[in-house]
Amino acid sequence: MKAIRYHEVGAPEVLRLEEVPEPIPAPGEVRIRVRAAGVNFADTERRRGLYDARVPLPRILGSEAAGVVDAVGPGVSTAWVGRRVVALASASYAEQVIAPEHELLELPERVSFEEGAGLLVQGLTAWHIVHTMGQLSAGQSVLIHAAAGGVGLLAIQLAKSVGARVLGTVSSEAKGRLARELGADEVLLYGDGDLTERVLARTGGRGVDLVLDSVGASTWKSSLESLAPFGHLVAYGNASGAPPPLEVEALYAKSVKVSAYWLRTPHPPELNRRAREALRTEVAEGRLQVRLGLVLELAQAAEAHRQLEGRGTVGKVVLRVP
Ligand SMILES: NC(=O)c1ccc[n+]([C@@H]2O[C@H](COP(=O)([O-])OP(=O)(O)OC[C@H]3O[C@@H](n4cnc5c(N)ncnc54)[C@H](OP(=O)(O)O)[C@@H]3O)[C@@H](O)[C@H]2O)c1
Repeated sequence: MKAIRYHEVGAPEVLRLEEVPEPIPAPGEVRIRVRAAGVNFADTERRRGLYDARVPLPRILGSEAAGVVDAVGPGVSTAWVGRRVVALASASYAEQVIAPEHELLELPERVSFEEGAGLLVQGLTAWHIVHTMGQLSAGQSVLIHAAAGGVGLLAIQLAKSVGARVLGTVSSEAKGRLARELGADEVLLYGDGDLTERVLARTGGRGVDLVLDSVGASTWKSSLESLAPFGHLVAYGNASGAPPPLEVEALYAKSVKVSAYWLRTPHPPELNRRAREALRTEVAEGRLQVRLGLVLELAQAAEAHRQLEGRGTVGKVVLRVP
């Protein structure tokens, strides 16, 4: 089969379309004929050697796929064969990928493979930062950085659906229009003056109840300063680099808390099930949109990375596998 591999870390050009052996499902696993592979910011960090750096090379990138089950391993019901599914599955920039049976989520008929490929990594992250970590509720306010990105657009919609007021940061007017279209009440451009002052001005001087920060180094200071008394900052990414070390002393004045979320932390199975089902239902019933910002062919993985890490994309980036 064909897959996108890299033999050394580096610029997007290290990604090569290569012929590799077809994977064979082991007990408890299925094989998915991939139709769409999700591209995530973390994939660009892996390729650059900033994340998951101990995994041996060459390596096939990717961590999620949508497609059709075409083979099952020992102990797995053959009823899966032919079903449209999505799964968290590593090495998904490929024509075929292996996933454990318990990872499979059946794709609702009205959801395309491309949309499905945006449902798990970014959808689950958005769901857990808004609900599990953020505990966001009606009447509260939330500041979402990188609001027009994959996780950002989903987090906006989930926050609006609980009745929160959403402020989002973006790097361009076009991204701002999209964030507003998906529900953001206020959009702030990074370059337009002091971010903290603008957040305080829009919240009557109080600040926001929750900040969702995936940008890190360049937003950290204003994220902390923008919190209301008893507010909560959830860190979940470092797109601009790692934030400075946390000074606990700085948290006392407003009694705020800082936490972090990682999708790969083992989650209680019931929480996992609830989050996945909630996402599937919201998307199937049209209340949650996976906005496709860039859909390219598998062979164009390097271009997808170039645009994603160059801040040139909005919403979900997907590689289509014909
Ligand atoms: N903790 C977890 O388990 C988990 C899971 C999934 C994703 N994440 C993190 O969540 C974030 C969003 O992921 P995503 O896949 O949805 O990506 P994305 O938001 O679609 O793309 C990243 C965005 O970050 C913003 N950004 C700000 N400073 C940047 C910089 N110096 N370089 C590049 N981008 C910068 C850009 O938006 P603007 O142009 O508007 O600034 C860019 O579009 C990433 O940081 C990712 O690592 C974490």
